[in-house]
Amino acid sequence: APFIAIIPAAGIGSRMQAKQAKQYLKIGAQTILERTLTIFCEHPEIHAVYVALHPNDPSFDTLKIAAHPKIQRVAGGAERVNSVLHCLENIAAADAVVLVHDAARPCLQTPDVDRLLAYYREHESPAILAKPASDTIKVSQAQQPRVASTLDRRTIWQAQTPQIAALTALKQSITEGLAQDLMLTDEASALEAAGYPVALIEGPSYNIKITHPEDLALAEFYLTQQGL
Ligand code: CTP
Ligand code: MG
Repeated sequence: APFIAIIPAAGIGSRMQAKQAKQYLKIGAQTILERTLTIFCEHPEIHAVYVALHPNDPSFDTLKIAAHPKIQRVAGGAERVNSVLHCLENIAAADAVVLVHDAARPCLQTPDVDRLLAYYREHESPAILAKPASDTIKVSQAQQPRVASTLDRRTIWQAQTPQIAALTALKQSITEGLAQDLMLTDEASALEAAGYPVALIEGPSYNIKITHPEDLALAEFYLTQQGL
């Protein structure tokens, strides 16, 4: 089955408070989006890379990697899940296996992708990168910020991307989840709700999602460690 990457990059980065969408901020000589796309474009087992872009995307065409033969552009949607679904609907190969990875996680490394591919090959079942939580996680009351309960930290993992699944399973799960008005902030939340088992594969600390202004310096630190 062909492995295909989906990169949601249609967000506006409101929490980043920058002048432009965060995927177009530079770390060293390259934008975040170029760095993320390069991981997948250069991976020998990834056949195509679908990138969801904002309808008013300012600058994708100015990136050198935009002309890479594996890249396919797709219009993004109102929420991340809509951007991912648009990509899924544009993939013709019914037997495709997709890896969805946030544009805003540029520090991912090829061996991390390889661990997911290896899991999928062996089990043909969904899996995600995730990191065991280091903080204790509190559930709050809905009305006010007051502790309702404390979760058992030994069972808490923070979801990362990539998240891998069969195209058909993921498309069906997201379509059903949207019809039920579920909160779908990652692929696994849709897959779980549809009854698919989702394996947790330990992801690295450096696989951060650049979300707030201070994350940019941290990503630069990790990328510098990796040789930028
Ligand atoms: N994304 C997308 N389509 C959307 C919203 C988000 O493709 N409608 C993408 C973002 O570009 C990002 C990834 O999904 O690569 C993760 O989302 P997030 O970190 O929330 O990015 P933004 O939505 O851009 O940021 P914010 O929520 O702070 O506005
Ligand atoms: Mg967002």
